[in-house]
Amino acid sequence: MDVGDQLCEAAKNGDAGKVKALIESGADVSHFDGEGLTPLMHAAKHGHADVVKKLLEAGAPWNALSPSNLSAGDFAMDAGHQEAFDILLNAGIQAELVLGTIARKDNKIGDCNGDYLEDRVSFSEDKLMDAESKAVMMAWEKPLMEAHAKAVCSGGGHILNIGFGMGLVDTAIQQYAPASHTIVEAHPEVYERMIRTGWAEKDNVKIIFGRWQDVLPQLELYDGIFFDTYGEYYEDLREFHQYLPALLKPEGIYSFFNGLCGGNPFFHVVYCQLVSLELENLGYSTQLIPLPVKNCLGEEVWEGVKHKYWQLDTYYLPVCQSIQDSE
Ligand SMILES: C[S@@+](CC[C@H](N)C(=O)[O-])C[C@H]1O[C@@H](n2cnc3c(N)ncnc32)[C@H](O)[C@@H]1O
Repeated sequence: MDVGDQLCEAAKNGDAGKVKALIESGADVSHFDGEGLTPLMHAAKHGHADVVKKLLEAGAPWNALSPSNLSAGDFAMDAGHQEAFDILLNAGIQAELVLGTIARKDNKIGDCNGDYLEDRVSFSEDKLMDAESKAVMMAWEKPLMEAHAKAVCSGGGHILNIGFGMGLVDTAIQQYAPASHTIVEAHPEVYERMIRTGWAEKDNVKIIFGRWQDVLPQLELYDGIFFDTYGEYYEDLREFHQYLPALLKPEGIYSFFNGLCGGNPFFHVVYCQLVSLELENLGYSTQLIPLPVKNCLGEEVWEGVKHKYWQLDTYYLPVCQSIQDSE
């Protein structure tokens, strides 16, 4: 048996001594065996927390994926191995925190949705697609958008929404008759459709055309804010969060579309925790409200859509409030 396979076997058996010896003799901790599993996945699957820890310390990648797209954390989660799961979760959060810091330091983050904003989009009854047949927005999200609107409008007053898309959240926001309802939208065709469908004529609506990054000086202070853009990354969401203290009233409510790593259950947990932690550092508490979505998401929903951006059974709707105010 080759050394990598031996390491997988030892990890599977929870043989911490052998794992240690093999690592010291130079065995590859990121080895994939014949099943396509790494030593870390084997240890996680069988709940050998001490081995999980050892492998992570030796540099085993926490986010490697099996042929069925499962990570070590997914294996621990599915088998109910809490200790191994907690170690992996912590490793994932720490790794992403460090990676983010390095990327920001190296200035590797720039305008990422430039292409999308310049390309054509197409509207149909149940979706808005980009030029590559990727869904910008889909009608199955309507109940989620209604729940987001309810959360951000719960204190009434002045509401800000970033990203119009199909106008689902904005339609729901209108039902709460806010004192003012500001919508920021950057795509020229989406904006043109907003105008054509009468959004600019609504008494309490103010439309600001442009990327949120570019129109920040036109924004004011709001009682409720919702954020849901497209073609951007976690770093953009994170950047938006840095402006929250300047945009959200102390007693205001903030929410965002929580599609973070919507294709993998464990990565989603890592990113839910990461975003909550980063918001906490900015002075906001985050409540994640579970909403079942399995029933509104049959396979037929994705017909003709290139990227299935959501594959989980539960959506966790974030409700964020200033920690001082919520105490
Ligand atoms: C997922 S859709 C929003 C869906 C919306 N929540 C709804 O209920 O229909 C994202 C929208 O954000 C817009 N967008 C993308 N990047 C943006 C940016 N940097 N600033 C403002 N809007 C942006 C897109 O053009 C798109 O209309």
